[in-house]
Amino acid sequence: KAPPSRKGSMADVPRSLLDQIKQIETLFTVKPEKLISISDHFVKELDKGLSKQGGNIPMIPGWVLDYPTGEEKGDYLAIDLGGTNLRVVLVKLGGDRTFDTTQSKYSLPSSMRTGTADELFSFIADCLDKFVKEEFPEGVSSPLPLGFTFSYPASQDAINMGVLQRWTKGFDIDGVEGHDVVPMLQKFISQKNVPINVVALINDTTGTLIASMYTDSEAKLGLIFGTGVNGAYYDVVKDIPKLEGKLPADVSPDSPMAVNCEYGAFDNEHLVLPRTKYDIQIDQESPRPGQQSYEKMIAGYYLGELLRLILLDLAKDGFIFENQNLSKLQKPYVMDTSYPARIEEDPYENLSDVESLFLQLGIVTTEPERKLIRAICEIIGTRAARLSICGIAAICKKRGYKTAHCAADGSVYTKYPNFKQRAAQGLRDIFQWNTKEDPIVIVPAEDGSGAGAAIIAALTEKRLAAGLS
Ligand code: GLC
Repeated sequence: KAPPSRKGSMADVPRSLLDQIKQIETLFTVKPEKLISISDHFVKELDKGLSKQGGNIPMIPGWVLDYPTGEEKGDYLAIDLGGTNLRVVLVKLGGDRTFDTTQSKYSLPSSMRTGTADELFSFIADCLDKFVKEEFPEGVSSPLPLGFTFSYPASQDAINMGVLQRWTKGFDIDGVEGHDVVPMLQKFISQKNVPINVVALINDTTGTLIASMYTDSEAKLGLIFGTGVNGAYYDVVKDIPKLEGKLPADVSPDSPMAVNCEYGAFDNEHLVLPRTKYDIQIDQESPRPGQQSYEKMIAGYYLGELLRLILLDLAKDGFIFENQNLSKLQKPYVMDTSYPARIEEDPYENLSDVESLFLQLGIVTTEPERKLIRAICEIIGTRAARLSICGIAAICKKRGYKTAHCAADGSVYTKYPNFKQRAAQGLRDIFQWNTKEDPIVIVPAEDGSGAGAAIIAALTEKRLAAGLS
């Protein structure tokens, strides 16, 4: 169902503001033809990423060389280092496509985002220590296998390692880029005598893919639309030219290989994405300018910032917030994604939530201003959803998938109003199906960083037990 139109609600909004909304809308509209050309270029970039010389999109082989069967069984630990929390999960895989999880969340002190590597890994090891003591008060007979979900681009030559290429999503911890994070974590775990072996390093998208395949045989893509944006799928070893010379002898060229695309880096060359001056500003003021170009236009980490920059621009030109103190609004990233999401949830007839959100920032808004803010959020949210699905379309085109369940997770997918409808419409615009049901659909994923990481840890143990690499 299409989201309701705002037209009838704008009667009392003055012409000057309506003109501004119109201009912003024109700037942010991505027409079907554009979506098609972006996704066609995207396919070429995915291929380049798999080639020997490589490209912008890292296309990292994830070394999951089997499909989950649904029969994986046993107790596994999983951790997920997200932006705001560390989640520790005990997963009991039932062996019959079912699983149970018990989890704890430990909030990540915000200073840690930009602190030191030792602080980070020591903190994780402490949380694991607490968790194991709580869940296994009598101790354990043998070390627990752990799958580490690390949602950053990490190069892997095997499943149990990952060299961080670069931080994304505003993380900036010294001494980790260029290093393998598994021994860094294992060192602190061992120092603190926590009975855990880190057996697998997993990207959140790969975990999402595998967890969803465990329960849904139609699942072909694992996607995150959250603080960051990324996708994973299975390719075939012989179709990944850059693996040549890196494959252990016992891996067949016909073996499946999960690939973590890291497609947030799509179009770092700025050839096709319709970047606005606001996108350019976000990029230039970020800790890593020139990187994650696609992600910076669509991911949750940046949507509130986009809104903030547009509003400041309108205020500077005298269209809104006359005589208001904008010092709070001038602080970068003061509005996280929950702002545009909440604003879009507020009905045009009322907008009291918008009023109070801005009062908290010390700004008294007029009713027409609130309507303008609401309209801008729709525009930003629509563009984000439409651009977001270009990655899905590209993978489906590349792999020749005519039908697929694309399993999605992340705060933008689960919480951002109207995202799902807009994303589905974007896919229809690209593929122009004339069927009653959409053959390629985005579906809610299973818990990738819990169950997914556990299943991957189980698949790894099974290979090791069989003497395979
Ligand atoms: C960023 C990370 C990537 C992750 C995505 C979603 O793009 O680089 O590894 O999958 O965010 O969390």
